[in-house]
Amino acid sequence: MKVQVCIIGGGPSGLLLSQLLHLQGINTIVLERHTRDHVLGRIRAGVLEHGFATLMREAQCGERMDREGEIHHGFLIAHDGGRLDRVDLRKHSGGNSVMVYGQTELTRDLYEGRERSGAKTVFEAEDVAPRDLTSDRPYVTYRQKDEPFRIDCEFVVGADGFHGVSRRSIPKSELREYERVYPFGWLGVLSRTQPVSPELIYVSHERGFALCSLRSKVLSRYYIQVPLAYRVDDWSDEAFWEELVRRLPEDVAARLITGPSIEKSIAPLRSFVAEPMRHGRLFLAGDAAHIVPPTGAKGLNTAGSDIYYLYHAILAHYRRGDDAGLEDYSRRALARVWKAQRFSWWMTTMLHRFPANSPYEDRLQATELAYLFSSETALGSLAANYVGLPF
Ligand code: APR
Ligand code: PHB
Repeated sequence: MKVQVCIIGGGPSGLLLSQLLHLQGINTIVLERHTRDHVLGRIRAGVLEHGFATLMREAQCGERMDREGEIHHGFLIAHDGGRLDRVDLRKHSGGNSVMVYGQTELTRDLYEGRERSGAKTVFEAEDVAPRDLTSDRPYVTYRQKDEPFRIDCEFVVGADGFHGVSRRSIPKSELREYERVYPFGWLGVLSRTQPVSPELIYVSHERGFALCSLRSKVLSRYYIQVPLAYRVDDWSDEAFWEELVRRLPEDVAARLITGPSIEKSIAPLRSFVAEPMRHGRLFLAGDAAHIVPPTGAKGLNTAGSDIYYLYHAILAHYRRGDDAGLEDYSRRALARVWKAQRFSWWMTTMLHRFPANSPYEDRLQATELAYLFSSETALGSLAANYVGLPF
């Protein structure tokens, strides 16, 4: 089979790019290792920058997002023994806000968009292997039910996440990897309960970080910082709610509605960047090239900026024979990736309890928050990064 662009990975990055290219008449195929239901079974974050929401509309997959998603003009930070301060995003970012809409729902919308467009997706593609990437005739092989297949193409996009095959197909001699692993994880619970607050609450507490988030008016998402040694089975629902209550300001805790968890999992926190994001005819996008801790809600949104740059670069190649965008893709994407890395590291460092911190470092952390809420400039920087820096 021959296509113009072969996309490895049927997560939000691969699907969004394929949909945008398909609408421009560029034929793509998506190779996904798992089933559609498996991909949609993953519970991930849910805060979209306005740039990402715009891309979803351009991909003609934004209708349900705009109908069911919530526009949030601000969020709260609890700190200093129960003090609650609000970050007014609209005021401090020059009028911008974010969209709260679950990544699982967004991925479902992209799959439905793909089915409507009739574009080809191969599920349960095994042993996917990109080949001849430095030639002008790359191809990808895979197996399905023990039958071998080959896709000839002009470009390969590695949108197969952190554990995918694409990044690993770049020679080690050419790849530089930067990583920071944090000494804790997030224990997350999804519950069919009314959210404790109409806006997100980020909590800095001596017992550790916590986050009160939501998916809708009847579906809540809560997280608490836990040491990496813990296993999810160590935490009953009761133990989770009790620990969350200990970290919340009293009046917030008094309003908390608890219930059985419908999903409960622990995610380790890691910062990771692979450079370059291009190797010959292979272009990496999303988690395949970079990971951020979820504190700044930048994972999906930075995947979105990769897709924005790659989509326009591939379009310019086919529309005008102009390869400047492809040549510059890695530099441009990484410039924005590193800003998201910085912001996510800063939010994580400011709001989490680091066991190895000295009393001096703990005081600096508290002062970071005190300075933030005493300075319009600092609030402006936070808001500009949270709503999304320009593409
Ligand atoms: N062959 C085919 N598909 C693969 C392979 C492979 N060898 N390896 C992984 N995949 C698939 C995975 O099953 C997954 O569905 O690639 C997809 C990658 O999707 P994601 O991990 O969701 O990555 P991405 O699409 O870049 O989305 C980034 O996901 O993890 C969140 O915080 C992250 O929000 C960010 C978003
Ligand atoms: C979530 O809703 O899951 C969420 C929101 C904001 C974050 C991280 C996760 O920073």
